Amino acid sequence: MDPKERILVGIDTPDLTRAESLVRSVAGRVGGIKIGKEFFTAQGPEAVRKLVGDDSLFLDLKFHDIPNTVAGAVRSSLRMKPQILNVHASGGRAMMTAAAQAAQEEAAALAVPKPLVIAVTVLTSLDDEDLVAVGQQGPASAQVERLAALTQDCGLDGVVCSPREIAVLRAACGPDFKLIVPGIRPTWSVAGDQKRIMTPSEAVSIGADYIVIGRPITSAEDPAEAADRIAMELAGH
Ligand code: C5P
Repeated sequence: MDPKERILVGIDTPDLTRAESLVRSVAGRVGGIKIGKEFFTAQGPEAVRKLVGDDSLFLDLKFHDIPNTVAGAVRSSLRMKPQILNVHASGGRAMMTAAAQAAQEEAAALAVPKPLVIAVTVLTSLDDEDLVAVGQQGPASAQVERLAALTQDCGLDGVVCSPREIAVLRAACGPDFKLIVPGIRPTWSVAGDQKRIMTPSEAVSIGADYIVIGRPITSAEDPAEAADRIAMELAGH
């Protein structure tokens, strides 16, 4: 894979003009655009499709509901032609299986490539204490591993994980299971609110397939230059 293809840029804004300007600046310099709840909820599916154009779309809506509803949401989201979409692994086996099946069937019906269906294990904003408060005993890391195994068993394509989980999940889930990793900071950027960070090259060298990068690119004075710099670092320059 061309190293720059591993970079997915998180466009976290409700504002159409700002989003368009960011997408224009990184076009052709990165592997894809990640759109989450903020832009989607403000602007809707038509705007997402128009914004992303020919670029790859990671639709980060993290579905979590009863299986029938998630399957419907996955089918509806295929009209935006995402290359990657995601659900919460804690929605359970039936929900994940329904999501994977819906993606497969709807992609065939629309004659579009089947997106990678990815699961979020444990949100990195939750620590061990938060998990206990919602009735989940044991360390977050054990829950991450358990949910990644369940995700793989349900036939999904991979998980979103933090940098510190890459090595363990790569070893546990094998080479074909996709690991999509936020919390990435080049050495020349500020950490912001991300705590467990890793550089792009480190993350890829230990097994990340895709790295999700937001502010180091979107808040840079020159987002195109920042994207190029990260791509060059990934290519070993
Ligand atoms: O600006 P920054 O590089 O921190 O943005 C990272 C992107 O990845 C944001 O869209 C954020 O919502 C998302 N994300 C994250 N940590 C997770 C999961 C998703 O930062 N554990």
